[in-house]
Amino acid sequence: MARFLVLGGTAWLGREVAEEAVRAGHEVTVLARGESGPPPAGVRVVRADRSSPGAYAEVDGEWDVVVDVARQPSHVRGAVAALGPRTGTWVFVSSCSVYAGHDQPGAAESAPLLPPSETDEDGFETYGERKVACEQHVLAALPDRALVARAGLIGGPGDVSDRTGYWPLRFAHPATTDGSVLVPDSTVTTQLVDSRDLAAWLVRSGAQGANGVVNASGPTLPLAEHLAAARRVAGHEGELVAVPQEWLAEHSVAPWSGERSLPMWLPVPEYAGFMARDTSAAQTLGLVTRPLEDTLEDVLEWELRQGPGRPRRAGLSPSEERELLVRARGDEDLP
Ligand SMILES: NC(=O)c1ccc[n+]([C@@H]2O[C@H](COP(=O)([O-])OP(=O)(O)OC[C@H]3O[C@@H](n4cnc5c(N)ncnc54)[C@H](OP(=O)(O)O)[C@@H]3O)[C@@H](O)[C@H]2O)c1
Repeated sequence: MARFLVLGGTAWLGREVAEEAVRAGHEVTVLARGESGPPPAGVRVVRADRSSPGAYAEVDGEWDVVVDVARQPSHVRGAVAALGPRTGTWVFVSSCSVYAGHDQPGAAESAPLLPPSETDEDGFETYGERKVACEQHVLAALPDRALVARAGLIGGPGDVSDRTGYWPLRFAHPATTDGSVLVPDSTVTTQLVDSRDLAAWLVRSGAQGANGVVNASGPTLPLAEHLAAARRVAGHEGELVAVPQEWLAEHSVAPWSGERSLPMWLPVPEYAGFMARDTSAAQTLGLVTRPLEDTLEDVLEWELRQGPGRPRRAGLSPSEERELLVRARGDEDLP
């Protein structure tokens, strides 16, 4: 049994980590403000704001493993200063957004990074740069005792970005009466890691004292195959109306995430490597991911429990999709 401290631990991935550590029989403490949700069962809770001086005053003693999901460099700087000297292994959840370029499939961890940014402003514009700064604080404080896991697209039940649930749900509940669904005609790949597999591996690796900087994602496969898997779990037999990326751009459909987007689609060639990174180092450290269909089945079940008509953070609304289908097919009437 190890003493685990999860900085965060009340939102999505951090919560999975805390729950997994409890299941694995470890003694788990989570530190959070209490704004993102209730703590998982079976953990000790420390309420603290990492922006305040003395945030770590209540987490005394020694820690075998600290897991941190922060995006703010000052939070990481403060945490490694206060806790680093009395922690065995520091597990930092980083992101493949730290890389300067995303056009090369198969790129390893040695690929060039963005310049670090110490800003604490939350926002996607500086996300990668802030994660670079966070990584640097961790590696400077615990050079031989840190596991920096650069996650790619994290998916599964509870995906707060609404990306990984979009496709299975849309195939299960098409926006159209004839069952047709608008999809990107693209050679881009996906590389999803199930949040539960990632969490289990982070806990195992932390407890074993693993260290290094690794890309932590699942297998790479063409988006078309990912969509085929989503159709199978949803039982979709309607038509796929495939449109090229130029058409999507002309019709103001955003890639990746957010409103009026087709989630997980990214333009090529500039993003041909974004979800095609070399993950062999993580596999050597024992990262194992379940079959994609299992993730998609579970995320669909979760989506259906949330309610298929709820407002979403990512994707096309049914009315946007119907209107785009009319244009894509050159039809007069809504399908
Ligand atoms: N989604 C993806 O596809 C993806 C891809 C690559 C990497 N990642 C990384 O994966 C991780 C996701 O983590 P997550 O799902 O657990 O979500 P998160 O939203 O990053 O969770 C933040 C956690 O930190 C706590 N927190 C935030 N501000 C705090 C403060 N000032 N003081 C104390 N605690 C604070 C929150 O609890 P309170 O609000 O209650 O304080 C919450 O528990 C992140 O590191 C992200 O960068 C995500």
